[in-house]
Amino acid sequence: MVYKNITIAIDGPASSGKSTVAKKIAKDLNLIYVDTGAMYRTLTYEALKNNVNIKDEEALLDLLSHTSITFERTDDGQRVFANEEEVTNEIRQNNVTNTVSVVSAHPRVRQEMVRRQQKMAKSNGVIMDGRDIGTVVLPNSNLKIFLVASVKERAERRHKENKQKGIFSDLEQLKRDIADRDYKDSTRETSPLKQADDAIRIDTTKLTIDEVVETIKNLINTKINHT
Ligand code: DC
Repeated sequence: MVYKNITIAIDGPASSGKSTVAKKIAKDLNLIYVDTGAMYRTLTYEALKNNVNIKDEEALLDLLSHTSITFERTDDGQRVFANEEEVTNEIRQNNVTNTVSVVSAHPRVRQEMVRRQQKMAKSNGVIMDGRDIGTVVLPNSNLKIFLVASVKERAERRHKENKQKGIFSDLEQLKRDIADRDYKDSTRETSPLKQADDAIRIDTTKLTIDEVVETIKNLINTKINHT
C-alpha cells in the first residue's frame, strides 16, 4: 500500500487522543506527523518566556516572524524546537496549557500558522492533528476524522499522563480546565473547533488507543482503495 500522497486530518477537543493516535498511525504507515497544537503551544511558551503580552496580536505576530517551529521524529513520538532550542516538555506545562487558547484565538496568528501547516502538507504523506485541519487547513484531505470523548474520560487520561511525566495534576481542576478549553476552542470567532461535514466522528470514551488506531487504519485503507 502506498501512502505517500495522502493527507489525513484529525480534529477534536483537548485530550481526545488525537496526538497519541496520530503518532502511532504516522509510525505504522510512514507518514509525517504534524502536531498543530504544539505550534500554538510553542508560540505561547515563547511569548511567556519573552514577556510578550499574549493579548497583543501585533506583538505575537512579530515574535512568530522570528520563531521557526520544527519537529523531529523519534521512536516514541517527536521533539519540538523553537529556532534551535528544544521545547518538547516546556510546551506541555500548565502555564502554557492554561493560556494557549488566548494565543490561538488571534485571527492573524492563525493565518500564519495555517500558511506554515499547508506548506508542511505539501511534502509527502502527512497526518495532521488540531482543531481546524479538516475545515480550514486541509479541506481537501483524503480522510477527515473527528475524535471525541467525555470530559471525565479526557480529564482522567490527562491526569494519568501528567503523573507519568511528573507534572503536578489535580483531577477536578483538570475537568474544569478541559471544559473551559472546549468552550473557548469551540466558541472563538476564527476557525472554531467544529466537525467538518465530511468528517467521520469516532467517540473514543470506551475505546483503547489500539482500537482507535485500527479503526482509522481500516478507514484509510478503504479510502485509498476507492480513490
Ligand atoms: O491539542 P493541544 O491541546 O495541544 O492544542 C493546544 C491549543 O491550541 C488548544 O487550546 C487549541 C489550539 N489549537 C487550535 O486552535 N488549532 C489547532 N489547529 C490546534 C490547536
